[in-house]
Amino acid sequence: MAWEWDAVSYDSLVLPHELWGRRALARLALDGGETVLDAGCGTGRDTAALLAALPRGRVLAVDASATMLDQLRARLPDAGERLTVLAADLREPLPVPGPVDAVLSVAVLHWIDDHQRVFDNLAAVLRPGGRLSLEFGGHGNIAAVEKALADVLGEPPRAWNFATPAETGRRLEAAGFVDVEVALRPDTARFAEPSALHSYLETVVLGAHLGRLGADERAAFVDEVARRLPAPVIDYVRLEAGARRAD
Ligand SMILES: C[S@@+](CC[C@H](N)C(=O)[O-])C[C@H]1O[C@@H](n2cnc3c(N)ncnc32)[C@H](O)[C@@H]1O
Repeated sequence: MAWEWDAVSYDSLVLPHELWGRRALARLALDGGETVLDAGCGTGRDTAALLAALPRGRVLAVDASATMLDQLRARLPDAGERLTVLAADLREPLPVPGPVDAVLSVAVLHWIDDHQRVFDNLAAVLRPGGRLSLEFGGHGNIAAVEKALADVLGEPPRAWNFATPAETGRRLEAAGFVDVEVALRPDTARFAEPSALHSYLETVVLGAHLGRLGADERAAFVDEVARRLPAPVIDYVRLEAGARRAD
């Protein structure tokens, strides 16, 4: 990745990702003994929820960010052998020891340009019949933020890949998934305080655009984007997908 996450700040925020993670986890309908891959685990909030839901199972937590994985290890020091943490890029074949029963991925895929490669790699490590539950920014996600950012940058931002349900369904089927269900869910996040919106934009949304700026320029850049928003909200549109790897 061209930039790194501020994992400590990320973990200090109240994130809608927690609800998104709970919804995605519920779609897997786990029985407690499975091995589940958390693809793009970040600081491990969903990894922790998975470990709680899998008293007889195991979790493989995969992410490309060293800072996020350090924070995950600090969050889960006592997970023992039920947790394996792997630094890996989801665009490359995954170094996973043996097939997994299910894959969970929350708020990750819109950061990745080539979804087909990711779906192919996830299918390769899922056992036949294994389940997949995805959620990420879908078509129309943060359109007002994109517009404000384009005004500040003077060109369209290139950080994200907000796929449509039809594209996602086709790609999942091409990767060998069946029983594919994909839908968009508008899910606006509201911020009572300007400082909360600023911290959120800086840490969660605009990181890819801040890396090349000096520390003093970052605050001004975030303020410029926030000032151009029509309201103190992030206009999220989430894409939720469930599927099963063909037998
Ligand atoms: C917004 S965070 C979400 C983290 C976590 N799933 C959550 O909901 O809190 C996005 C995560 O995707 C990871 N990520 C982005 N591109 C990736 C890639 N190509 N391979 C692996 N992880 C990636 C980032 O490092 C980051 O931890």
